[in-house]
Amino acid sequence: MSGFEVIIYEKQDGTGYVTLNRPQALNAYNIRMRDELYEVLGAIRDDPEVRVVIFKGAGEKAFCAGADLSEFLTAPSPIIARRARFERDVWGLFLSIEKPLIAAMHGYVLGSGIEIALCCDIRLASEDARFGLPEPGLGIIPAAGGSQTLPRTIGGAAALEMLMSGRWITAGEAYRLKLVNRVVSRADLLPEAERIADKIKAYNPLAVSYIKQAVTRGLDLPLEAGLELEAKLGRRLALATGERA
Ligand code: COA
Repeated sequence: MSGFEVIIYEKQDGTGYVTLNRPQALNAYNIRMRDELYEVLGAIRDDPEVRVVIFKGAGEKAFCAGADLSEFLTAPSPIIARRARFERDVWGLFLSIEKPLIAAMHGYVLGSGIEIALCCDIRLASEDARFGLPEPGLGIIPAAGGSQTLPRTIGGAAALEMLMSGRWITAGEAYRLKLVNRVVSRADLLPEAERIADKIKAYNPLAVSYIKQAVTRGLDLPLEAGLELEAKLGRRLALATGERA
């Protein structure tokens, strides 16, 4: 895939690399990025060669500094914005991908930057990463699922504090809150993501995909229904691999 301006999409040995690529604007998420991300996510979902995906930010300073504030000030009307959302539900598409997604974050991780990471399954941060949700200071609420995905990840109280007070946290605190799986040096960020990707790729992709579905869908279900889901996916996997359940 080519012709992108603000995203770089590469594939190597079954790993897809999505780089948010507006370093001069700290990789702020603009409409162009939304459109390109939508296209890339569709390709990731449909391409059997892609087994695992790593998301990262270009440049030294940021994974993503949130929504593009220059566009925010000239936003279309709520009706147009809502129509655009129905046409291109990037976040719904993100969460529907049944492949493992890894976020490798450095520097500023703000607003939609956190929300992109929350659509991923494994989150790594470098020591210099700083996380914040500036939305309340702008008089808005998260628009990319953050009000739902953040409390499901770090719990209601911690999410409410970050979302209501706008307090930024360090990589160390993000680790303690379980917002990120681990913190590594800046130099080790991508290699660590690749090590995890390589381990995942060694396994049966269908088993990995069903594990992701069982866990992510199960989190929203009562235990009994979650156990049924696990049993159903287990039977389906056994059928697909020709084994007895
Ligand atoms: N939208 C558009 N442009 C942004 C941006 C954003 N969210 N965040 C940073 N940029 C741009 C800056 O305007 C600046 O552009 P310029 O060089 O043309 O002036 C460039 O990125 C570098 O940012 P700068 O502010 O100079 O870097 P800094 O290290 O001094 O500060 C931040 C970094 C993240 C603290 C600061 O840029 C900031 O507060 N950004 C806005 C964060 C935000 O509110 N995001 C919205 C979330 S909903």
